Amino acid sequence: MKTVFLKMGAEKTMNAEYIKNAGDCLKQGGLVAFPTETVYGLGADALNEKAAEKIYAAKGRPSDNPLIVHIAELSALEKIVQDFPEKARKLSKDFWPGPLTMVLNKKEIVPKSTTGGLETVAVRMPNHPLALEVIKAAGGYVAAPSANTSGRPSPTRACHVLEDMDGKIDMIMDGGEVGIGIESTIVDMSVEPPMILRPGYITEEMLENSIGEVLMDPALMFMTEEKAPKAPGMKYKHYAPKGEMKIVEGSRQSVVAVINNFVTNELENHKKVGIIATDETYTCYPKGLVKSIGSRSDDKTIARNLYAVLREFDEAGVESIYSESFEEASMGQAIMNRLLKAAGHNVIDAEQAELGGIL
Ligand code: TXA
Ligand code: MG
Repeated sequence: MKTVFLKMGAEKTMNAEYIKNAGDCLKQGGLVAFPTETVYGLGADALNEKAAEKIYAAKGRPSDNPLIVHIAELSALEKIVQDFPEKARKLSKDFWPGPLTMVLNKKEIVPKSTTGGLETVAVRMPNHPLALEVIKAAGGYVAAPSANTSGRPSPTRACHVLEDMDGKIDMIMDGGEVGIGIESTIVDMSVEPPMILRPGYITEEMLENSIGEVLMDPALMFMTEEKAPKAPGMKYKHYAPKGEMKIVEGSRQSVVAVINNFVTNELENHKKVGIIATDETYTCYPKGLVKSIGSRSDDKTIARNLYAVLREFDEAGVESIYSESFEEASMGQAIMNRLLKAAGHNVIDAEQAELGGIL
């Protein structure tokens, strides 16, 4: 299949033509990648069983992992969900369009291939003008997972989508770099109290300020064999770079010392090593391929750079990655959730490592 790459420009008439093409393609059961404010999505008509099935094939995604249905207008909900609880309505007022996905009880019309066989459906109204236009042009219901090959970091730029999807999908709409960089917060509104299934830009605190108590799926931060997370997608080790990744936590000084020691060892073994540092520590690492993902005082920038940095390490052929760790306050919760998944929960305590003479 030839993948058409459309660069969206300032010229309104041209964009309108591209949006119409994308909408037509989706209506005919095709696959179109487009930007949202979180990450690039790989869209298909959510109400077309066959079209949604194609997404799994293009991504190499397990078919029990349900998709998020993207809508452009609140009135679109009625057709696909059984009920819209008061708290969900309040969240939609406060955060839609925006990086929040709500799990609701589905109606018959939503096919199994979209929801992975579940009786609930995840719905989101993205806050991106191009995404909203494309959804409207496609008839109002677009299933869109992140537009990466399953197992790779989510795409935050159109070139990332091209890397993974060239030849596998009909169209890629290039709308530039995304604003947020990590996927939407998912909250299950089919249970009471509502439960966060995936942390994101909309934090626990923001949700609680809006609707009162929300719980956090306990399986999220401490993944064990017994506790499977409620969002099927969260159980897979995805967001993963090709290299083996470890997170080092502890005081800044110990972390830097321990990472430098590991790097020295790896280099002696002729391994290519990458380091995920911050603006504050960037110059403390004399060896290895060092990348800063931003300043510790600015977690929004860290979130936006995270996946791109992981992809850059892949491209450089890095075999081992050492990452600093981050405070799990507000956005830090989402950042650490993604880092822990990328590292397969491989965490090293720096103080212990220094004491235990692992080095
Ligand atoms: O920011 C985002 O949400 C992006 C953009 C493209 O909108 N999309 C995205 O989709 O991250 P995806 O497929 O990569 O992640 C969807 C997550 C998976 O973890 C899946 O298991 C969960 O949502 N999910 C979908 N439907 C669900 C349901 N009915 N119940 C529980 N979890 C569900
Ligand atoms: Mg994804």
